[in-house]
Amino acid sequence: MRKIVVTSGKGGVGKTTVVAALGRALADMGQNVVLVDADVGLNNLDVVMAIENKVVYDIVDVISGRCRVSQALIEDTESGLYVLPSQSENPLVTAQTFRNVIDSLTGFDYILIDCPAGIENGFHRAVSSAKEAIVVTTPSVSAIRDADKVLSLLSGYRMETTSIVINRVRPNMVTRGEMMSPQDISRLLRTQPLGIIPEDDCITLYSQVGRVPGYAISDKAFKLLAENLHYGTGKVYEFTTSGIFARIFSRRAKARGAK
Ligand SMILES: Nc1ncnc2c1ncn2[C@@H]1O[C@H](COP(=O)(O)OP(=O)(O)O)[C@@H](O)[C@H]1O
Ligand SMILES: [Mg+2]
Repeated sequence: MRKIVVTSGKGGVGKTTVVAALGRALADMGQNVVLVDADVGLNNLDVVMAIENKVVYDIVDVISGRCRVSQALIEDTESGLYVLPSQSENPLVTAQTFRNVIDSLTGFDYILIDCPAGIENGFHRAVSSAKEAIVVTTPSVSAIRDADKVLSLLSGYRMETTSIVINRVRPNMVTRGEMMSPQDISRLLRTQPLGIIPEDDCITLYSQVGRVPGYAISDKAFKLLAENLHYGTGKVYEFTTSGIFARIFSRRAKARGAK
């Protein structure tokens, strides 16, 4: 069972979106996946997954013994994945009780934890219950700076692996030199990108229908992200003047990793 926290320094960079889309892509690959909402931000996971009307119990009910964890889990019937909903800040949710809930989730291949923004208590709670971390950043300077801070904080948590996902990349702007390239960002952060997700208007459909359509450009990128996570492949989006397409730059990635 892999316990992975999806975090970032800056809010609004796409953590919840990545958790939802990566979770779906892993479920589509036949994996048993549970998404744990530890973020009580603007876009809650249940809203992004369009299952908010199914929420009966949440993590606080589990901690306070009002229900069993299995009762609080909501199944997304379409993809077969499960969501454990959050509640707003509550003193019952400590690093220890949160971890107990995570540890009580059995029978899953993947537990993806949607981490709150910032580096306060919520960050500590979410991160200390995971074994692997994915840091989401966008190509903006402030997001990269915050991602850098989070990466150094994470080094104190003894993660088995830590990787980055670069979200909201606009290939045309990268080509014109108006946006930092994923390669530059990965060099700055001294961390391999596990995935590169393009800017995609279809992503807003998440909060309406709970899924990006199969034709969406980001859908392909999320599939590659899931494959990279699961199989350890190094496939990411590569940029060309004719648009973006999936290509392997794992040779380059390996060469850098081997240094
Ligand atoms: N690749 C993308 N392309 C377009 N919009 C995106 C992308 N990723 C995220 N968004 C949008 O950005 C906003 C913030 O994303 P969200 O996942 O809620 O961030 P966070 O959980 O980090 O606060 C949402 O409205 C979401 O739809
Ligand atoms: Mg969020």
